[in-house]
This record gives sequence, C-alpha cells and structure tokens, in this order.
Amino acid sequence: MKIRTAPALDPNTELAIVLAVDGETLDAGPALKDAVAAAKATGDLKTTARSVSSFHPLLGGKPGAGGKAGSKAAGRGAALKRLLFVGAGKTKDLDSERLRRLAAVAQAAAEDCGAQSFTLCIPGAAIGKLPAERAGAVIAEGLLLGHYRYQPPQKDKPKARKGDDCTVVLVGGDQKAFQRGVALGRLDADATVFARDLENQPSNLCTPTTLANAGRKLAGNGVRVKVLDVAAMKRLGMGALLGVARGSSEPPKFIVFEYGPATAKETLVVVGKGLTFDSGGISIKPAAKMDEMRYDMCGAGAVLGLFHALRHGAVPRSSRRRIVGLIAAAENMPGPDAQKPGDVVRAMDGHTIEVLNTDAEGRLVLADAMAYAKKFYKPAQIVDLATLTGAVVVALGHEVAAVLGNDQKLIDALVAAGKQADEPLWQLPLWDVHKDQMKSKFADLANINGGQGGGTIAGAAFLSFFAGDTAWAHLDIAGSAWGGISKDYYRNGACGTAVRTLLAWLRSA
Ligand code: BES
Ligand code: MN
Ligand code: ZN
Repeated sequence: MKIRTAPALDPNTELAIVLAVDGETLDAGPALKDAVAAAKATGDLKTTARSVSSFHPLLGGKPGAGGKAGSKAAGRGAALKRLLFVGAGKTKDLDSERLRRLAAVAQAAAEDCGAQSFTLCIPGAAIGKLPAERAGAVIAEGLLLGHYRYQPPQKDKPKARKGDDCTVVLVGGDQKAFQRGVALGRLDADATVFARDLENQPSNLCTPTTLANAGRKLAGNGVRVKVLDVAAMKRLGMGALLGVARGSSEPPKFIVFEYGPATAKETLVVVGKGLTFDSGGISIKPAAKMDEMRYDMCGAGAVLGLFHALRHGAVPRSSRRRIVGLIAAAENMPGPDAQKPGDVVRAMDGHTIEVLNTDAEGRLVLADAMAYAKKFYKPAQIVDLATLTGAVVVALGHEVAAVLGNDQKLIDALVAAGKQADEPLWQLPLWDVHKDQMKSKFADLANINGGQGGGTIAGAAFLSFFAGDTAWAHLDIAGSAWGGISKDYYRNGACGTAVRTLLAWLRSA
C-alpha cells in the first residue's frame, strides 16, 4: 500500500475521508470547506468513534444540495467525487490507539466503496494531544496494518485490492514532524506485516527451514545472519533444543542475527521461540484447536519482524550497542524418535533437565538459545519472547502479554515500551519459591512444576536458571499473539505481536 503526505487536499482526489471529532468545528482545509458545510447541514454526519458517514451522492460535484464540493479551490472542472467521514469521538479519548484504529477504519471504508486511491484528511483536532510525529506514525501503522490480509493459497488468482493508495493530509500542525512520523510508522508496520505473514502460514508451508530462509534474506544493510544446522547444534551441545526436534522429520534451525559492531560496548540479545508446530510431542495435545499451534513461532516472528525493521533502518546503528537476535526453530512432534516423558537431556550450559512433559518444549529450546547468548555474546540484557503457556491466556486473556524476569529496570523499560506501542504488558511475580519448584530428583531441573499451578510463572522460573545473573526479561505472548478482539488494524489470525514493542524499547534504551 502506498502512503504519502501532502500539505493540503488535492480536490481531484477520488475520495476524501475526513476524521470528524465530536463537538469540534470541522476544519478540513479550504478545499473541503463547502463540502464539509453541506455534509454537516444534512444532519447525517456522525462523529461517534469509528462510525462512517458517506456523502458522495449528495456532493458529487453536480448541481444540487452541497454540489459546490471543492469548486472554489479546485478551479474549473475539478470536483471531489466522494466524501466520507470517519467519526473520531471525543477529543479527550483521542489517544494513539484510537487514532491507529481510525486510520484502519478509513482504509477499510475506502476499500469498501471501491476507491483505488483516497485522501485521509486529519483536522488538527483529530490528533488530540499527540505530537505530530507520533500522530503520523500511528496513522501510518493503522493504514498499513489494517490493509494487510493474509493471502491463503487458492486455486484462483486473488483479486486486486482497492483502497491501497493513500495521501494523508494533516490540516495545520508541524508538517515535517508529521512526515517523519509517517515514515517511522511505515517501517514499524512493514516489519509487523512481515512477521504476520510468516506467523499465519500453516506449518507445512512454514517450517524451521522456511524461517531460516526468511531470516537469511534479511542480511544486508548492517544485519548479519547465520543459521546453525543440526550438526552445529550437536557440536555446541544443544541437547535441550535437539531433544525437542527429535520427534519430527523437519530439521531444527538456530538462526542468529547481528546488528551493530562486534566491538560495541554492550550487546542486547532478543530470543524468539520458533516452534513452527507444537503437537505436544508424546505428551500430545487434544485435537481441539491444535491447528492454532502453527502460531507457536510468534516469538520468532517478533524477532524476524524486529530485524526486518533494523535492516530498513528503523533504529540507527550505534557503535556502542550491538543488537543480536536468536531464534530457536523446531517442530514438536511425536515421531518414532521423539523424546519421552522422563527423558533427561543436557542443555548447552551443562544443566540437565528432566522432560516430564514433552509439551513444555518452548522453555527447552529457549534454554539452549539463552545459553548460546551468554556464551557467545556476554549480553548486558536478554529479552525472550515466547508463546510459552496456555496459562497466560487464562490469567491475562488475549489483550495483555505477561512479563517476568530478574531485572526490574529492564521490566519497567519493556512495560513502558509496550505502553508506547499500545501492546500492554503486565508483570507477574517470579520469586525464589517459584524457582525451587523447578528442581528435579532425576536432573538439575524439571521442565514442569508438577501441578503446583502458576503455569506462566513456572515457565519463567525454569528460564531464570539459564539467564543466571544476566539481566533478563521474558514475554509470554501466548495470549497476545493471536485471538484478540478486532482492533480494526488487526482482525484475525496472528498479529505480529511485540514487533512494535521491541522497536519502542530499542528506541528508548
Ligand atoms: N505452545 C504451548 C503454549 C500455548 C498453549 C500457547 C495454548 C497458546 C495456546 C506450549 O508449548 C505448551 O504446550 N505449554 C504447556 C505447558 C504445560 C505442559 C506445563 C501448556 O501451557 O499447557
Ligand atoms: Mn507445548
Ligand atoms: Zn509450544
């Protein structure tokens, strides 16, 4: 989808969409003055948030009620063909999330009415208290994320989409800042869409090898990519990751991204769980909703999305900081060679693990990824993202992700980034009592806490042994990665969760 900014509306636009704030004078600029007045005069202009009112028959540039649309500013011959309003609600409720949603509603309205291109007109009142740059960013995000559809494989060629060429006009305000914001929002949204497209693929079309190939393509512009195969993982002693992959004929892949110089003073590592399918293994899952386990790579999706953004310059390269991304990609299947409940494996850092439940596989693959991070990068901070537990859906639902860890400053920074991205995070406790629950009689650790409840905490408690004394935070995104309510810019399937949060975090750190 194309997005550009313009200082004023071109009256020849196929379709103008104006955000209409409740109780505010509607200043959409001189070119629309008459048309807006005529539309208002009908009494049918709705301003409740997300409502769409259409005025094109009335204001078709022909004589008749309100027919002067655009005539003055446009000069001879030019006429606005269609005019829509998207209600913006009250100014006091106009925050970044509202504006992102309104942009998505506008894009959908443009597509619905069959216009190829449209101009989105943002009266100053419609950005509320948001600085112009931030407004530009969230509007671009709303347009692009709202426009995204997963394209399933089909017999027939998909129809060309409408409503995919938008000119955004901020009426008044800092145009330069607004443009900067639109460019930033575009980078973040493109990265999120990149993640979503991988996340939505079924597991037969998106395997660990697919993720590795997608990762390799991100090399360049400061991003280096390396993929470890089974032989390399064996040499490193990644027994936990290899144990998970044993039941599948799909080979696991360990993907390493680096951005920034090796000489950097500090390294931040972001780790993603990349289970392209999680059947549960021998501890097999029930049939209902098992198809959703194609999404068990959304942690990896977030890392891939992040590096997509970095590759496109979303966060300036710095000589003092290196950003590393690690993806542990595998398929958890109950094949003949699968690991069995009670098996003991050894992780790369030497910890032995009793695999009491083969369905608690995410923490196993992450254990080796964190050990790898510590051994090769001695990171200042590690953040891992994983669709780790069904328990987090019970505890927090689909609209909030859990954050736990061993470093309050890092957790606070991530919570703040989640606020900025409108992807809320909620901290859960992680205490010594929880860590004690992960001890095993048959190994150093067990991969489940044996029916003591608090499943999300248990997952994090297990991981804490692999973080050791490195500052670390864990995001359990099993709820937020898919299944949330429609937010206009996200309707169904996987939503590329946490890509924008990670970017906000890196920009703030
Ligand atoms: N990938 C699942 C977590 C999951 C479950 C995400 C449902 C989204 C919806 C994970 O690997 C898993 O199976 N976790 C188990 C852990 C349990 C065996 C301790 C779970 O949550 O049931
Ligand atoms: Mn599982
Ligand atoms: Zn899983």
